Amino acid sequence: MENHEMTGATRRAIVIFGATGDLALRMLFPSLYFLELDGLLTPDLMVVGSARTELTDEAFALRIKEAVKLRAGGDFDAAVWERLHDRLYYSCVDAAQGAGFDHLANVLDGRKEIVYYLSTSPSLYGALCDNLKKAGLAHAHSRIVVEKPIGKDLASCNEINDALAATFSEDRTFRIDHYLGKEAVQNLLVLRFANTLFEPLWNKVTIEQVQITVSETVGVEGRWSYYNDYGAIRDMVQNHLIQLLCLVAMEPPTSLDPDSVRDEKVKVLRSLRPIKGVDVKRLTVRGQYSEGVAEGRTAPGYLDESGGGPSSTETFVAINAHVENWRWAGVPFYLRTGKRLPVRSSQIVIQFRPVPHSIFPGTELLANRLTIRLQPDENISMTLMNKTPSLADGGMQLKPLALNLSLDNAFKETRRRIAYERLLLEALNNNQTLFVRRDEAEAAWTWIDSIIDGWKTQSMQPKPYPAGSWGPSDAFTLIGMNGHRWYD
Ligand code: BG6
Repeated sequence: MENHEMTGATRRAIVIFGATGDLALRMLFPSLYFLELDGLLTPDLMVVGSARTELTDEAFALRIKEAVKLRAGGDFDAAVWERLHDRLYYSCVDAAQGAGFDHLANVLDGRKEIVYYLSTSPSLYGALCDNLKKAGLAHAHSRIVVEKPIGKDLASCNEINDALAATFSEDRTFRIDHYLGKEAVQNLLVLRFANTLFEPLWNKVTIEQVQITVSETVGVEGRWSYYNDYGAIRDMVQNHLIQLLCLVAMEPPTSLDPDSVRDEKVKVLRSLRPIKGVDVKRLTVRGQYSEGVAEGRTAPGYLDESGGGPSSTETFVAINAHVENWRWAGVPFYLRTGKRLPVRSSQIVIQFRPVPHSIFPGTELLANRLTIRLQPDENISMTLMNKTPSLADGGMQLKPLALNLSLDNAFKETRRRIAYERLLLEALNNNQTLFVRRDEAEAAWTWIDSIIDGWKTQSMQPKPYPAGSWGPSDAFTLIGMNGHRWYD
């Protein structure tokens, strides 16, 4: 850490505010370590952690080392750590009080190309930007990266975005949705737009329904006070599930440049049929887990985790959504997410329509189904009807079999990356393709707000479901009334 001065023409820095918080320790610094391991950090990059706690550079580095070791496990490499350590500095800043920014300026030592990562409560975003500006640190080539939640509704989202925009223009504002950093999510773009096979079939003529499920086995895990204000619809649907829906439903962008991709996503969001008023009862389901058995153990109910307080926050949501455009008219997009469900799994199922006429009497023909598993394993499978080798029944017994592509197996030798590795790298490289643009966030909130408003006006309380189950029975009715069933 002895030599701060770099001689190269560009001297870069990344400053992480909230550097002693959970996200920074579990994800951000380990991601920087892995980028260092892969030689992807430029030699001129300085890494500054910043938080309210008074710490020396060394005490801070020690905390980061522990966090990195925990994440890297047996793969921890002391030499790589030393390289990261050499870039690492600490600066104590109190954003709310506006204190410490002079010290930060000293540490940055004239650097102008700076990525400020705001891993803090959104309530501090405005003050942080303001203080950076006052301290002369919001240079033309500096940018900010912000974490969700960006607001609780459209109005508060606008307030936050206005506060950011007062200092950083949109092309310097990087809104994170960590799902966009996942390899399997980026692979959706590749699957759709690097293969000729799917595009001609990717529409209402051939596709009957789409299901997007993000199920978690964990409960709210000590995040009750945050979660209780947000619930599953704001915590998961407004961002992660909607982003997945956009990637499945969007038109082919003309290129991978940020605005081409984001323009197409915004068009999808604006085509989402609003669900409001009494329709919320037919098209949405809210649930809240009660005591049950999850992963073989008794799990407390959501209310028990609150310390017994009442709450009408949902921990499960299912929605029957529609994208109203020529490609998708009439095709339901079923979205489902929840905590304390039976398995941890994120998957997208594209259910194709049945064949129009069967020439195989007496055999049920299962319509083709494309399943894209995003986690925990990365897998793409397509069910196809096949002939069972047999002479019985006139020699025509059929059976659905899956054509399987295990990405985990195909790329066995590749380390599974943390989503933040890619996102940090893109922010450092000034590429916004994988970040959410302001109008995208606004369009998502507009759609979500109408549902939440419907829940209020219709007094739609969450229905209990036992921990370890697939949500309230209404979730089965929601899809069952269209003659469909969930694929788990
Ligand atoms: C976060 C939510 O954005 O995503 C959490 O706030 C949720 O509630 C998490 O658990 C899920 O992310 P992942 O990557 O584990 O699917």
